[in-house]
Amino acid sequence: MRKIHVSAPGKLHLLGEHAVVYGKPALLASINKRIFVAISETEKKKVDNPSLEELKKVIEHAIKKKYRISKIRPYTISISSHIPTGSGLGSSAGLSVALTFALLTFLGIKANKTTIFDIAYTGESFFHGIPSGGDVATVIEGGFLWFRKEFEFLKIFTPLPFKPHKNIGQFILINSGKPKESTKDMVEKVAQFKIAFPQKTQALFNSQEELTKRMVVSFKDGDEGNLIKCIKSGEQNLEKLGVVGKKAQSLIRSIERLGGAAKISGAGGVKEGSGMLLVYHKDVERLLSYAKQKNLEVLKIQIGSEGLRKDE
Ligand code: PMV
Repeated sequence: MRKIHVSAPGKLHLLGEHAVVYGKPALLASINKRIFVAISETEKKKVDNPSLEELKKVIEHAIKKKYRISKIRPYTISISSHIPTGSGLGSSAGLSVALTFALLTFLGIKANKTTIFDIAYTGESFFHGIPSGGDVATVIEGGFLWFRKEFEFLKIFTPLPFKPHKNIGQFILINSGKPKESTKDMVEKVAQFKIAFPQKTQALFNSQEELTKRMVVSFKDGDEGNLIKCIKSGEQNLEKLGVVGKKAQSLIRSIERLGGAAKISGAGGVKEGSGMLLVYHKDVERLLSYAKQKNLEVLKIQIGSEGLRKDE
């Protein structure tokens, strides 16, 4: 029996993380770091990786329910990934999506993107409580995605109907350290903040919505100055929400002094690191030499790469 190979990209939040949990829009992009999943039939059911068993169970259950299947024949999975884990780059969404797609293909089921989304979302919920679904949608679609959760049962996402203007240069990621908290913890932290300061939180979310829209326009028009302003102000709002740690904040201030802008690119973290920072500068070389001088861990990425796919 032939092996089934699929892969999905990682993602990052260009803007709108956290606010997206409360119905505000988010702008996300896939990145050119992928997770590869292969499935093949085996004689006997075996445990591939104990930490994967729970996720497999959740996804299998969703597939069985949707397609009224009572049994899935034994299979074995192998996984390799270039997406750093626990850093806001969508490694868990990539895994849920790729596993869902591989398993459906293994069962000979041709599913559309909405069905893959629904099944993979149950897997992502296993990791994150009640995620917005933005990560899952982005790793399926690839490219640049405008995402909004109107209701739990109605999530709207659409690829940007243009390619970013050629003036928009390269983004890089700088590691501010792995967050100690999970995405679930950080979403809960914002929920508590919202209970304590409802008006302030609403104002921050409204501001994020406006900035997210402005960011889309700066990608369309190629206005780097505006893009930098959106990243800076978006980051300030995230700091006011309490999701960015001290270490990341001081790193971001030094990037701003250089004339660039940086922000967290997912749930963030405050106890230790805040995950990978999304960094932009009109002169990327300046940024790279600064990072080298300070011994910072840099990941060069392309954004907007291909979504979920079958690999031969
Ligand atoms: O850090 P990540 O990749 O899990 O992104 C989380 C984004 C949040 O908006 C904080 C949560 C969500 O479900 O959208």
